[in-house]
Amino acid sequence: MTAGRVDVADPLAGLVLGERPDPLPADGWVTVTVRAAALNHHDVWTLRGVGVSADRLPVVLGCDAAGVDPGGNEVIVHAVIGDPDAGGGDETLDPRRSLLSERYDGTFAGRVAVPARNLVAKPAALSFEEAACLPTAYLTAYRMLFERSGVQPGATVLVQGAGGGVATALIVLGRAAGYRVWATSRSRAKRDRAAGLGADRVFEAGARLPERVDVVMESVGQATWAHSVRSLRPGGRIVVCGATSGDAPPAELTRVFFTQLSVAGSTMGTRDQLGRLARFCEQAAVRPVIDRVLPLARARDGFAAMLDGTLFGKIVLVP
Ligand SMILES: NC(=O)c1ccc[n+]([C@@H]2O[C@H](COP(=O)([O-])OP(=O)(O)OC[C@H]3O[C@@H](n4cnc5c(N)ncnc54)[C@H](OP(=O)(O)O)[C@@H]3O)[C@@H](O)[C@H]2O)c1
Repeated sequence: MTAGRVDVADPLAGLVLGERPDPLPADGWVTVTVRAAALNHHDVWTLRGVGVSADRLPVVLGCDAAGVDPGGNEVIVHAVIGDPDAGGGDETLDPRRSLLSERYDGTFAGRVAVPARNLVAKPAALSFEEAACLPTAYLTAYRMLFERSGVQPGATVLVQGAGGGVATALIVLGRAAGYRVWATSRSRAKRDRAAGLGADRVFEAGARLPERVDVVMESVGQATWAHSVRSLRPGGRIVVCGATSGDAPPAELTRVFFTQLSVAGSTMGTRDQLGRLARFCEQAAVRPVIDRVLPLARARDGFAAMLDGTLFGKIVLVP
């Protein structure tokens, strides 16, 4: 499943299903047989021309996969292609890092070539479909909660846009780690489902909260930013990983300095964090929230659900 061309207004117009040559692994790379892949908003951004240049097209879409390596081992594929040494020990800080499907073909295919260091053992407790959810949405949520938030378990964390892939990951990981997780959603049905996942309280988008929170997890952007800023206690922090609804809300600088807020950007995580996340899921019996599993040939239906915002959790594609 490739992005054949960019169409900002109608991203699905660029989706092309077809045959591609087998990947040729470079030195130090291996080919993984994909058993399951997961959809991310990143794939929609690619079809809109964000983060990819037209001369790289067609490119196989997909950041996330779980599959089998040439030795027959069940593996999860780390999506960040980067050099930890160039990023001070963190490949996400390598100025030349990319994600699968940006410079190199991605995971919406029968096989994908990746650097050998990007393979992490799949815990036996997770199915291929569940494991395929971890490399982007769950790894991003893991870093947001356990590295970038700066707060310990017991703190109150507000998750905006409860139905999204990252948002549902934040709810289940945060709950399992002992944070008090509050969530907002525009949809009553999604609020109910978020509560069912373990969110302690759920609120309509933009609702006044009973008390201010320690940290807000932001992936919605423009539509929820003002509420995020207003919902924080003095000295609180917004951890932002995405801006689905737009990336240029009023910055609310007066409130930021007067109440001494901080804003922390967060992107993906390291290969070692992906390994710890997989173990955390196994140890804490966390299972990724899957909206639906579709054959790769029907990926278009999954993209459509992501575009109209009706999904709850991850859409998983199987070859
Ligand atoms: N930095 C990183 O490493 C990283 C990693 C993963 C994702 N991201 C970014 O994070 C964002 C979320 O990704 P995802 O894959 O979780 O996406 P998703 O599944 O498409 O999440 C979208 C959610 O955002 C909320 N939303 C969307 N438009 C909205 C609007 N206009 N008003 C209010 N809420 C709105 C909806 O929540 P409700 O319907 O429940 O209100 C929806 O369920 C994307 O922009 C993605 O690019 C970044």
